[in-house]
Amino acid sequence: MAPENHPIPIILDCDPGHDDAIAILLAVQSPLIDLRAITTTFGNCSVADATRNALRVLALAGAGRVPVAIGAAGPLTGVTELGNYVHGASGLDGPTMPEPVSAPVERSATELMLEVISSSERPITLVATGPITNVAALIREHPEVVPTVREVIFMGGSTERGNHTPAAEFNTYADPEALDIVLRSGIPIRMVGLNLTHQALATPAIVERMQAMSHVVGHTAAEWMGFFGSSYRNVWEFDSPPVHDPCTIAALIRPELVRWRECFVAVETRGEWTRGATVVDLFNRYGRPANARVAIELDAAGYWDLVLDAIDALGAATTGSSTRHLGEHRRDGP
Ligand code: BDR
Ligand code: CA
Repeated sequence: MAPENHPIPIILDCDPGHDDAIAILLAVQSPLIDLRAITTTFGNCSVADATRNALRVLALAGAGRVPVAIGAAGPLTGVTELGNYVHGASGLDGPTMPEPVSAPVERSATELMLEVISSSERPITLVATGPITNVAALIREHPEVVPTVREVIFMGGSTERGNHTPAAEFNTYADPEALDIVLRSGIPIRMVGLNLTHQALATPAIVERMQAMSHVVGHTAAEWMGFFGSSYRNVWEFDSPPVHDPCTIAALIRPELVRWRECFVAVETRGEWTRGATVVDLFNRYGRPANARVAIELDAAGYWDLVLDAIDALGAATTGSSTRHLGEHRRDGP
């Protein structure tokens, strides 16, 4: 049975991105999530491409009604790192995607966040699945929202090593100063790092379940995994790609899928080789008060059942509008 505080009102701050795209589908479909807005950021690609990708994923999902606002084009400080080497030139390479059916709102990401937070009858959860720049900018520009935000749950960092560099995960490397602001803000924080998301592998059996679906949403997801999987093979020698970002949404929908540990988390902003690395004090060696709940263990089978059921339900619900795209896509094929 769903906890009584469902559906959870959220803003999804993201940089789609193949795994962000699956997170969007899950958030759109789940009756236990109330997706109030999407805000975009640089990260896997430029913010312009991330915005276009978000709008295209919403079109695929039949959810053009969800407001989308354009966010940060780069970090608070330092150089802009992009993840096109993982997600391709468009940031969402692979299948042919529908054109957007809506346009971004005329407010910035922080303006839309503020508007949604201040007008909500219930506290908003901020879900961040890219560099956390927009959330930090909101906290800096509008510190009055801090006590009203229910929590920030972010994909980033690790209890172990990194991926973008040996020490640092991509999202936390891309804007460590932003994460530092969020961690010190006093907002309740949950961290979903690589140590957790590397348990969420899209194995061939999972991709086959997507391919076996009788609609374009399932087939598109399977092709995303094909592109993402080849990047993970080429760059990190993974057999199957870890589908990081939807772990955040899954943890909100079905809290029992994830085991957490409360601890002190910091992010390295100055290290010569370790900039952007998260320092997770699992055994309280620093003796500092915990400032985050850190994801430790995933029920991977339960996670995939949730994600695949959502993709299938969304595909079934949007079959009328999506069949055209399936036909278009097949015409593009060999
Ligand atoms: C994170 O970086 C991006 O490649 C993914 O979208 C995810 O948010 C994983 O390090
Ligand atoms: Ca992401």
